[in-house]
Amino acid sequence: MESGPKTNCPAQPTLFWPASTRTYQVISLSTLSQQSAGTTARSSQYCLFVCLMAALAGLLFGLDIGVISGALPFIAKEYAVTDRVQEWIVSSMMVGAAIGSVGAGWLSWRLGRRYALGLAAILFVAGSLWSGLAGGPAYLIAARTLLGLAVGIASFTAPLYLSEIAPRHARGAMISAYQLMITVGILAAFLSNIGLSYIADWRWMLGIIAAPALVLLAGVAALPDSPRWLLQRNREAEARAVLQRLYERNEDVETEIREVTEQNAQPQHGWGLLRSNSNFRRSVALGAVLQIFQQLTGINVVMYYAPRIFGLAGFASHEHQLWATVVVGLVNVLATFGAIALVDKWGRKPILYTGCGVMAVGMGLLSLLLKLGLTDVASQLLAVSALLFFIAGFAMSAGPLVWILCSEIQPQQGRDFGIAVSTFVNWTANMVVAATFLSLLSFAGESNTFLIYALLNVLFAVVVFFYVPETRGISLERIGRNLMAGKRLKDLGK
Ligand code: BGC
Repeated sequence: MESGPKTNCPAQPTLFWPASTRTYQVISLSTLSQQSAGTTARSSQYCLFVCLMAALAGLLFGLDIGVISGALPFIAKEYAVTDRVQEWIVSSMMVGAAIGSVGAGWLSWRLGRRYALGLAAILFVAGSLWSGLAGGPAYLIAARTLLGLAVGIASFTAPLYLSEIAPRHARGAMISAYQLMITVGILAAFLSNIGLSYIADWRWMLGIIAAPALVLLAGVAALPDSPRWLLQRNREAEARAVLQRLYERNEDVETEIREVTEQNAQPQHGWGLLRSNSNFRRSVALGAVLQIFQQLTGINVVMYYAPRIFGLAGFASHEHQLWATVVVGLVNVLATFGAIALVDKWGRKPILYTGCGVMAVGMGLLSLLLKLGLTDVASQLLAVSALLFFIAGFAMSAGPLVWILCSEIQPQQGRDFGIAVSTFVNWTANMVVAATFLSLLSFAGESNTFLIYALLNVLFAVVVFFYVPETRGISLERIGRNLMAGKRLKDLGK
């Protein structure tokens, strides 16, 4: 095993996150304070501000994922809409996000990361207000598509910006804050859904997200441009000025400028490489397949339709359904820490096998219980436990790990393109799952629907066995070299 990827390698525990289209980060939450010790109070405060703003983008992303499950039953009641229309109200956001994630690559290159984030913030504000004021289902679908554009742009740009602007010593911790904020955003939305359910007002649930979006907009105005992007544009003086605010020592500033300039000298190819190189096509395909399977686990069925699932599990009152959903959000946050602790100790494949097993058992048990009929409290509690078991399995495995692998398997010369493709596939698959769940329920029946998801999780483990490489502790350069030398995908880490 090699000593590890290009990172600010920390002490345990670590969390991996697809920090950028350029490099892959290994981070440690526990070492944030130690890492920050290398900076002055001024640069630390500045880092904190940048971190908070980018984490806010993660929070908004999470809020928008989490809010719809609480709002949907009220919307369905007010407009008496069919399952098909409900599915579109949910999945229109993913259509926008898929488009936004593709456009974000171009936008953040053309306008710069900061303006791309600013645009996302404006769209977040506009989309949230429009959703809250929507005059009917069609307007709501349009408003959520607009909101999706914001989510797509933010989900590509915020981690990229963070990885480019963060000083080396605090980079990982800043990016992990972003990832955690997504799960915290989902939880916060679930909690806000409860508060607002007492006044039964879905408009407030959707509209209130404009408030944190406005804070992001104000914050972005004060953010600096990414030094890496400035250097790509040959604006070295401006890049140096930003770096001087982030780094205390001049030698660190110069090292950063030198390294970035060296990396910029290696041009990236997208379409051209895809057309001309079959090895690159393999890594792009693997990234896409991993993202499809991440969505086919059924995670977002739970995220978007949790109260409805709890309704199936025998929770008659909407209030009880929402509380049970909060527990889902909490388990999602807590189990993410499980991934933080385990990912660098166990390696990718063992964690994925375990996660797939846990998810399959969770979904399988739910299916069985629904078949037997949830007639008493004991079986209802068991159904809830099965769902929570599933969530824990996802959050400790496929949630973070698929993103990690997608950023690791792409060779340097095609990394931006490869990750843009897998991000697009993530949102597209997300949309397909969201847009078909209710139809699947009425077509296949409740028990069979969850059985299908259980089987898909087993299939995911099979795909991991045959195609996924073990990349723990292997440098990105070596993975890229193996790929381009034509080694089997599962052997890329050897
Ligand atoms: C997935 C999202 C999901 C989230 C839940 C992410 O890794 O890509 O689709 O909603 O995890 O925490």
